Amino acid sequence: MAALLESHIPNLPVRRGKVRDVYDLGDDRLLIVASDRISAFDVIMPTPIPDKGRILTQLSNFWFRFFQKEFPGFRDHLIETEVEKFPARLQSERQQLAGRSVLVEKTSVLPIECVVRGYITGSGWKDYKASGIVSGVKLPAGLKQCQQLPEPIFTPSTKAAAGHDEPVSFEQAATHLGPNGAAILGKARDLTLALYSCAAGYAKTRGIIVADTKFEFGTHPDIDGGQTPILIDEALTPDSSRFWPAADYQPGRDQSSFDKQYLRNYLETLSWGKTPPGPALPAEVVANTRARYLEAYERLTGERFDA
Ligand SMILES: Nc1ncnc2c1ncn2[C@@H]1O[C@H](COP(=O)(O)OP(=O)(O)OP(=O)(O)O)[C@@H](O)[C@H]1O
Ligand SMILES: [Mg+2]
Repeated sequence: MAALLESHIPNLPVRRGKVRDVYDLGDDRLLIVASDRISAFDVIMPTPIPDKGRILTQLSNFWFRFFQKEFPGFRDHLIETEVEKFPARLQSERQQLAGRSVLVEKTSVLPIECVVRGYITGSGWKDYKASGIVSGVKLPAGLKQCQQLPEPIFTPSTKAAAGHDEPVSFEQAATHLGPNGAAILGKARDLTLALYSCAAGYAKTRGIIVADTKFEFGTHPDIDGGQTPILIDEALTPDSSRFWPAADYQPGRDQSSFDKQYLRNYLETLSWGKTPPGPALPAEVVANTRARYLEAYERLTGERFDA
C-alpha cells in the first residue's frame, strides 16, 4: 500500500501534529491517525517513510499492553485499537485508518515532555559538557559520551507551541502545571521513571538499549478529579526514543541506532539550514530509515511486522 502523507476524514475537525492527525469525535474521544510523515530537527520532511505510521502505532499498542500487564491499575488513554470496532461512521475510511489509528480518551495534555535518560547522549550530552547539569540535575564529573548514568534521571522539557523544546528543572516545569503542579508532575515523574526502567529492562533482553525516551501525560476531570496523570500519545517508539543495538554498545563514541538518528546524521551531511521546508529524501535514505524502524519493532515485539 502507498505511503500516507496526510489522512483525510470528512466532517471531523482535525489538528495535524508533525506525525499524527488528531480528529475530535466531539464526545470526549479522539481518533489519532499516525501518518507516514517523519520530522527531524522539528521540521516535517516532504518525503514519507512507507508503513512508519503503522509501525509506530503497533509498537505503541504493544507497550501499552505490556504496561497493563506489568503495572496493575495502570491507566492509559486507549479505548479501541481495532479499526473494525471503531464507530460506524468511520468504517468507510477503514482503508486509510487500518493499523495506524487508535480511539482514545480526550485529555488535557500536560504541557511538559516527560523525558527520562538512562544514558548521556544528544542534547543531554551537550548540556552536560557545557555545565555538568541536565534539566537541573547535577551529574557526576568524568562521564563519557553515551555512558550509562548511575541511575535514570527525569529531565523534563517544555512543550513549545512552536520551535524547539527547552529543558527545564522539575521546579520550573511544575510552574507550568497550575496550582497543584508539583504534585501532578511528581506523579508523572514517578510513572516516567517506573515505565522506563521496566521497559528498558525488557528491551535489553531483546538486544536493545533504550538510551532515553519521552512520555506524554494528560489529565481528565473524571480520573481522580484531574489530579492523576494518565499515559497518552505514543510510547517507546523510534520517534520518541533512542534505541541502540546492545551488542555494539561502547561508551566514548556515537552508537549505531534503530531510530531517527540515522536520518539526522544524513541531514547533517547536507547544507540545509534546519528550517522548513525540509529536503526531499533520496530513496536509499527512505529505505534505510524504514528498515531501522522495522528492526526496532520486530526485535522489541518478537514478531514479524505484517503490513
Ligand atoms: N489522549 C490524548 N488527549 C489529548 N491529546 C493527545 C492525546 N494523545 C495524544 N495527544 C496529542 O496529539 C498530538 C499527536 O500528534 P503528533 O505526535 O504528531 O504531535 P507532535 O508534532 O509531536 O506535537 P505537537 O502537537 O506539539 O505538534 C500531540 O499534540 C499529543 O499531545
Ligand atoms: Mg508527538
